[in-house]
Amino acid sequence: MSEQRQSIHGIWNSRIIFILAATGSAVGLGNIWKFPYITGEYGGGAFVLVYLLCILFVGVPIMMAEVMLGRRGRQSPINSMKAMAEETGSTPLWQIIGWMGALAGFLILTFYSVIAGWAIDYVFKMGSGAFNGVDGATSEKIFGDLLASPGELILFHSIFIIVTLYIVGKGVNEGLEKATKFLMPALFLLLVVLLGYSLSLDSFGQGFDFLFTFDFSKISKEAFVVALGHSFFTLSLGLGAMMAYGAYMPAKASIASTVVTVAALDTIVALISGLVIFPIVFANGLEPGAGPGLMFQTLPLAFGQMPGGTIFGTLFFILVAFAAWSSAISLLEPGVSWAVESTRFTRPQITIALGALAWFVGLGSVLSFNHWAEAKLLGKTFFDVLDYLTANIMLPLGGLLIAIFTGWFYKEKFSHDELRMNGSPIFPIWLWTIRIISPLAVVYVGLKGVGLID
Ligand code: PHE
Repeated sequence: MSEQRQSIHGIWNSRIIFILAATGSAVGLGNIWKFPYITGEYGGGAFVLVYLLCILFVGVPIMMAEVMLGRRGRQSPINSMKAMAEETGSTPLWQIIGWMGALAGFLILTFYSVIAGWAIDYVFKMGSGAFNGVDGATSEKIFGDLLASPGELILFHSIFIIVTLYIVGKGVNEGLEKATKFLMPALFLLLVVLLGYSLSLDSFGQGFDFLFTFDFSKISKEAFVVALGHSFFTLSLGLGAMMAYGAYMPAKASIASTVVTVAALDTIVALISGLVIFPIVFANGLEPGAGPGLMFQTLPLAFGQMPGGTIFGTLFFILVAFAAWSSAISLLEPGVSWAVESTRFTRPQITIALGALAWFVGLGSVLSFNHWAEAKLLGKTFFDVLDYLTANIMLPLGGLLIAIFTGWFYKEKFSHDELRMNGSPIFPIWLWTIRIISPLAVVYVGLKGVGLID
């Protein structure tokens, strides 16, 4: 069936390009900034183990479903969901998955860009030697001063939005594909260089043990909730990003093996990021559970005290900015592709309009760190509200609906054909995982996320 529909946006040149693009979407701030600090907060190896289980039993099956629906629909997530619902005789209301996803992607972009902006700012700060030989208090002050200056935050937020729009505006083959071909190899190269650096530290073994010593007594319910939520965020699931990218996937490529490759690469990057960060943390006697400030406060401090720290620190923040860039593209694509299909405006016009709006809404997040720091809704700033609403409610809900639609409403035969399983035992395993295990896990986490169970 995917041969029968045509994507008006283009098709990735090869299966490898799809893998690179999808990995580009998956690998981002979630891997390099968030994974290490939540691992630090939730006790290291025990958390890593739960996270790996979530990726395997919830992330991979749902990603397969998203890519499959996208490729078969060959349109934006909104219109693909409409087509898939029609094809299977279900209510067109399933489109809501696409609408909510496009909105979630847009909202995430508004604050993701602000944090990515910090990373760009830090490229310059590290490069100019601002952290050379500083102590903890100074490093904290540099970060605090950044948060306190709306002008500086807006500058880098704007730069990040502009580079993102530039790529999305150029379209699938000229924009997304070309960016991917450059960004992903650069990213892997930077990561390997940094890994080599942390391997040379005496504390490498300590960092390694912290990540890979599975102490079962440390596994808490809480860790399970955080790990599951994070597995959605890190694999870019629940908002149609993978559906949008799936729509451009060559018809012949095998979805199962491709998705497993993407999930594996995403996981490897997260683990390597941990292996880069924790030895540096331990080498300097810093606190692994330092929270969100880990990357922006403790790490620069550590880089500032090490031989070669200026170079490696600068490289590190370039890596973060690149990773965020290739993710941000996929946050905008679901909305932009819908508007290209359904309105008479051109892709560049739509991209600029949506991007300008995202930039504007992002100002709310910028102000959350200074002038509006005290303006709170239910104890949360504007930035916190958006983060909470998207990551804890919209993504899990989107993932849940995708799992229910694919597992219970979509015709089994269509999935079987599209996944090209030819009687492989993997098919029933996938089907029953997406019917039972993934939805139950998501419902549990969703209820915990909104505080209905403890
Ligand atoms: N996966 C990205 C990260 O880990 C974030 C993201 C979420 C990107 C959802 C696209 C869609 O940073």
